[in-house]
Order: sequence, then C-alpha cells, then structure tokens
Amino acid sequence: MDYFNYQGGVLCAEDVPLSAIAERYGTPCYVYSRATIERHWRAFDDAFAGRPHLVCYAVKANSNLALLNLLARMGSGFDIVSVGELERVLAAGGDPAKVVFSGVGKREDELRRALEVGIRCFNVEVPSELDRLNRIAGELGVTAPVSLRVNPDVDALTHPYISTGLRENKFGIDVSEALQQYRRAADMPYLQVTGIDCHIGSQLTAIQPFLDALDRILVLVETLKAQGIKLHHLDLGGGLGIRYKDEQPPEPWEYATALLDRLEHTDYEILIEPGRAIVGNAGVLLTRVEYLKSNQDKNFAIVDAAMNDLVRPALYDSWQEILPVQAAASAAHRVYDIVGPVCETGDFLGKGRELAIAPGDLLAIRSAGAYGFSMSSNYNSRPRCAEVMVDGSRAHLIRKRETIAQLFQGERIID
Ligand code: LLP
Repeated sequence: MDYFNYQGGVLCAEDVPLSAIAERYGTPCYVYSRATIERHWRAFDDAFAGRPHLVCYAVKANSNLALLNLLARMGSGFDIVSVGELERVLAAGGDPAKVVFSGVGKREDELRRALEVGIRCFNVEVPSELDRLNRIAGELGVTAPVSLRVNPDVDALTHPYISTGLRENKFGIDVSEALQQYRRAADMPYLQVTGIDCHIGSQLTAIQPFLDALDRILVLVETLKAQGIKLHHLDLGGGLGIRYKDEQPPEPWEYATALLDRLEHTDYEILIEPGRAIVGNAGVLLTRVEYLKSNQDKNFAIVDAAMNDLVRPALYDSWQEILPVQAAASAAHRVYDIVGPVCETGDFLGKGRELAIAPGDLLAIRSAGAYGFSMSSNYNSRPRCAEVMVDGSRAHLIRKRETIAQLFQGERIID
C-alpha cells in the first residue's frame, strides 16, 4: 500500500497535489512519500519481530540523505556497496555498527575507511578479498568481522540483468568452494568470522527461490558448525519484488514467515537487505508533456523526463504505470508511446499507453522510488532532476535540481 491517491480529481502524494509540487519545484521531479517509506520499512521490521534481526536497507535503491536519515531514525541498518554509500549513511546519521558492506570489487581505500568507522560486517565475495581485508585490518590493529557471500546457484526467476545467484553470475563465492574459504578466513589473525550471506537477485515475486537458497546455506552452516566454525548471523540479502503492473509478490510477513519457519530450530540473528520493497512504490517521477505528435503508425507524447532520469524502461524493458495527474477536460483518448528528448530510440518511459492528454499536462510515472534517481545520469547534458519528500501536507525539497554550471564544474580546457 502507498499514499499516492486521487483527491478531488488530482493525483496527490499524501495530502499534497502533485500539480502544486510541479508548480513550486518544476519538472521533471521525483516525489517521495514519507509515510509510505516508513510503513514499508516497518512491515519488514515487524515481520521479524520476536527474533534477533536487523533490516539493512539497500542504499543503492535510493540514496538520498533525507531518506537515509528517516530510516536511520527508525533504527535501520544499511547495506552498502561503495565508500560513497558509506559516507552517505554517515552523513545521514546512520550507525556504522549497523552497516554491512557487499560488493565484488571493494578497493583498499574502501575497506580501510569501513574498518576505521567500525562497520557491522564485510560481505566478502572474492577469496583474495579475505587476504586484502586481513592485511589492512592488521595494519590498523583491528579485527574485521566477515561473512562470505555464498553463491547458492539457484534461479531467482527474474530478469537476467538482476539475477545474481546463479553460478554463471559474477557474484559471491561458489557454494562448493565456501567451506575451504571459511577455513582460511577462520585461520586469519585479523578476521572474525561472524556470518554468512547470500543475495540471489532482485524483483523476486515468488518465495521458493529464497527458500531454496536458504536450504543450501543451512547445509553449509551445519557443516561449518561441525568443523568448529560457529556463525552468529545469517544475512539473507534483499530482492523481494513489488507490484509494478499485475505482479503479486509475497508481502513482507509472508516472506518472513516462510523463512522463519525453516529457521525454527536455530537461533541465528537474521539480517535482510531489502531496497526496492521499501522505496519502490514510495516514489513517482513527475513529468510534463511538451509535445504530442503522430505519424501513420504511432502517437508520441514527448515529455520532459527521459532515460537519463529513469533508465529502467530503456535498460530492462520494464513496465511502470503512467497516470495523468489530472484528467484533461477535452482531450481525446489515444494510445501513446511516452518518450523523452534524448537522442536514442531506447529513450522511452512507456509504450502503448492509452491516455487523454494535451501538451502542458502532468504525468506521474509510478513505482519510481527505487533505482530511479539513483541510476540517473547527465546523458545529453541534462541536469539531474529535483527530489521532493512529502510528509502529510508538507513538501520538502530534498535535492535541488542540478544547474547547468554544475554540469561541467569539474572540467578544464587545456592549452
Ligand atoms: N543486497 C545486495 C547485495 C544487492 O546487490 C541488492 C540489489 C540488494 C541487496 C537489494 O535488492 P532489492 O531488495 O532492491 O531487490 N537496477 C535494478 C536492480 C538492481 C539490484 C541490484 N542489487 C532495477 O532497477 O531493477
């Protein structure tokens, strides 16, 4: 459930009409609902109540400081994949002791900084990362808490670009090799083996792949225990999907119940790393129709947002709902491709959508809170758009629209 609804014929974020936001902050513009974000985070936290657990929000889904700060204030942990994300969490008031660090290519400086601030756990994905981490921890005179990210070789049944738990993917350490790497880690003086981790993909709409991965991990955990390597936590990754169109993903409580069922006779702390399921349906991309044009085959609505603002349709051919902010009084219903101004045929936000619209009308692209702004770019020298957080009847600008000057502020002309 989210808080984007029509009130008096105008689409609102909580109690603020999107038309008022467009007027005040311009378009294109991302608009988030605080109540939705908080509700979704709590749905995960409540689902694991009664068991030691930590919800580590996946920062990559949306890394705006205001959003991270709201989650930090609720007690959230964070899953990061770069030092940039770590600094964002710290700047937003997040607790480093609740941060887990995932990713296949952690650089020396990134490991060092994370050790300095004392993060909760390193999710190690490459055998030689263990040696690098052990050496740096030794230099700093600290002990690094580690989990191995195991690749359980299960099919997440999702888009191939966002499936990560198959042996052919670059992620994690092969489940057959994990035992040997755990033994190595346990013998390293500056590493403390604390957990195990897996993340099999994103936008999963069924529970079974999560359970298959868990079953494989539990076999490994038992073997480790028999060899004297006792783990404290299981990090089950993120990946729970959301409804974009007609998908029916499990609710957080269904997902948690199924997992906890399997874990009944264990006492491990459970970590999860949801991103999309917390913020995806908590945001829309607000855009204005610039022109309408038709040829013999098609009608195009050319809008002021583009693939640089929201790349998911172009990159994954993903479908996101597009709604008029207000019904146009006299426009005819037509089937449109909604396209942006970028010079690529792949620059579309939606295809074949029936809408009654006129130039100047506002459209809201739904389910844009996750992997929307965080994947945006300056392609075609387009400044990145503004971000607004609505809280009840108030709208807060949480990121200013980039200026043209900012576009090339770091560039220099040579002699
Ligand atoms: N943990 C790890 C280690 C991850 O790699 C990811 C996402 C997550 C957690 C969070 O997954 P979520 O709960 O959001 O599904 N750009 C793509 C999604 C890429 C996901 C990458 N990893 C998209 O727009 O669909």
